[in-house]
Amino acid sequence: MKRLTQEQKARVKEILSQMTLEEKIGQMNQESVSIVGGFDVPFEELIEMMTDGRISNEEFEKILSNAERDFHEEDIRTGRVGSLMVSDPRKCNELQKIAMEESRLGIPLMFGLDVIHGFRTVYPIAIAEAGAFDTDLFERTASMAAKESRTQGVNWHFAPMLDIARDARWGRVSEGPGEDPYLVSAFAGAKIKGLQGDRSSTENYVAACLKHYVAYGACEAGRDYNTTMMPDSMLRNNYLKPFKTAVEAGAATVMASFNDLNGVPCTVNKYTLRDILKGEWEFPGLVVSDANAIRECVAHGIAADEMDAAVQSAEAGLDIDMGTTIYKNKLEEAVANGTLDEAVIDDAVERILSVKMWLGLFDHPYVPEEAMDRYDVLPKEHLDLAREAGARSIVLLKNEGDVLPLKKSQKISLVGALADIREEVVGAWALSWRPEDCVSIRQGFENAGADFEYYPCCGPEGPINEEEVEKAAAYGDVIVAVLGETTSMSGEASSKADITLPGEQTELIKKLVATGKPVVVLLMNGRPLALQKEVEMVPAMVECWHLGIQMGNAVADVVFGDKNPEGRLASTFPQVTGQCPIYYNHMSTGRPGGRSKFTSRYLDVTHEPQFPFGYGLSYTTYAYDNLKVEEAADKLIVSVDVTNSGAVDGTETVQLYMQDVAASLVRPVRELKGFAKAELKAGETKTVTMELAKADMGFYDNDKNYKTEDGLFRIFAGHSSKENLCSEVTVQF
Ligand code: BGC
Repeated sequence: MKRLTQEQKARVKEILSQMTLEEKIGQMNQESVSIVGGFDVPFEELIEMMTDGRISNEEFEKILSNAERDFHEEDIRTGRVGSLMVSDPRKCNELQKIAMEESRLGIPLMFGLDVIHGFRTVYPIAIAEAGAFDTDLFERTASMAAKESRTQGVNWHFAPMLDIARDARWGRVSEGPGEDPYLVSAFAGAKIKGLQGDRSSTENYVAACLKHYVAYGACEAGRDYNTTMMPDSMLRNNYLKPFKTAVEAGAATVMASFNDLNGVPCTVNKYTLRDILKGEWEFPGLVVSDANAIRECVAHGIAADEMDAAVQSAEAGLDIDMGTTIYKNKLEEAVANGTLDEAVIDDAVERILSVKMWLGLFDHPYVPEEAMDRYDVLPKEHLDLAREAGARSIVLLKNEGDVLPLKKSQKISLVGALADIREEVVGAWALSWRPEDCVSIRQGFENAGADFEYYPCCGPEGPINEEEVEKAAAYGDVIVAVLGETTSMSGEASSKADITLPGEQTELIKKLVATGKPVVVLLMNGRPLALQKEVEMVPAMVECWHLGIQMGNAVADVVFGDKNPEGRLASTFPQVTGQCPIYYNHMSTGRPGGRSKFTSRYLDVTHEPQFPFGYGLSYTTYAYDNLKVEEAADKLIVSVDVTNSGAVDGTETVQLYMQDVAASLVRPVRELKGFAKAELKAGETKTVTMELAKADMGFYDNDKNYKTEDGLFRIFAGHSSKENLCSEVTVQF
């Protein structure tokens, strides 16, 4: 959010000066459409029934669609609500009309929603898309989502999710762009541009919301909502970095995370909210809580009761209460009895009104009628972009004997329930898609004109159907098995203590391999999996993630060689679950893992990952040579010759890493510092040049100081975090 003009600022101040305390607090209250009845049991029990399987997801959805709802019209009328979660443009306009015409001051509402990886056009989940290593793509998909949602009334995305995630047991790794601070920061900057950048009309942009601030991804043991403990150096060098980048890029809003950080829940964390975000970084926008988080401060044991939680949250710099009505019910009394200074409320409301002003809502509060149906039939360019993003996010993990690409004329047996459940393509955080837009892998193979038969052979977890296995073996010259996790196995509240393939899927692979036919595994999943056994068993494996509505077509593009895979892993894959958390940019230890027993290793499994960060094969090969590092006054200029040494054209993601060899704090063994795409015809060589600013070669110590220290650095350039050329350089800052 660029700062407002003087005139806009004056307008905000003027409105603020006319507001009663109750109206100000109303702006700090966010409601969602409440389900208020129309079924036989309390809503909480209904959720439990769905969770423990007494009713299916479909039954739950059906009950909800018939439920009675409260859209909070009366609170809107009396100025006691400032924002809502709702995504129907007609309803948005209706509610906005009440706010504009019937409330005393006519302050517009903001409508927020979780638009994490697409709105109507769902594109790949973030962990997949990040693997395309392409900021232009990140920006284009975000811009598409902004346009589609704003014409449906949604002017505030609770995205991008920027949690660095190093532990694949945490279900929310699917929602974020992986484990690396540099890549996540590049993703952050591009997403802000895409969501907020096109201000040619109010139909083209939305307010972004950076979440979850902060260190939520470091939850202990990968268990959702769990505690996080970390020194300031770790916080600033890793977890804060993408948020800082996004704030500098102008992000309008931030969401505080559920977790406690070093003993203080982020909802009431004055250090992260007021001191760092609003103080050091001079963030001019607003901060919203995560859902129900103010109430949870009592369960955390940091607040005695709701009043205490409300006061602590407001004082810490939390401007909007999502979902508890605690601000609405408690803050007036807190000001009246002198527990809370009204200036805190004024600051919050000035921020909220400023975001609304920046969104253009005071002058353009409604969704224009003619825009509402603009994306009812998805335009071809949106489908093309989803397909392109899908294909470019796919990672080829193994391809022994060049089993892939397959020929469309080859006889293929397609296997696995996930291949044919079209709803499974969208991934964990997609809300506004339509089933008829989803292309399953089976459908994608059909669209490609492949010669295949489909035999499910096994449900997502079992049981195995032996008869179908026999049929699959009899028909195909090759078996393609679509395996992995259903969408509901990752995302929020979906942590797992075992991240191997669920149910009987490994057994199924064994049976398929035993048929003697070559087996290609296509993985659909939202987190890195522990695939030690399975990788050994099959000649070819492809990580397809959850790629969005065009998934089937994108997978067919890669499997049949119309697209040469270029995706890379944005997150390290362990060999076994017990290696978690595992990440490439770990600190140097005094006894690096090796063959000797007394090194940092395990007795029962290697300390090495299955697949490292940045890894991904192609249908061609790339060779690196001639790494050069030249020093200029304020930067290093790194160049390397990259050759397409195989027989097909391809796009290589060239990665630049650095190691600070000796520093005043232990530093990571390697840190990503840049990347570039090189399109190379078969046989072609290009010199790829990347720059590393000297200012970016430093780190934060534990006293908040950013330091660049003279000395020896190793510079690496190459194909992944493991395979690269190295050059040493002594740098003076
Ligand atoms: C999630 C947030 C989300 C919010 C609103 C919470 O449970 O943690 O990521 O934005 O719900 O739906």
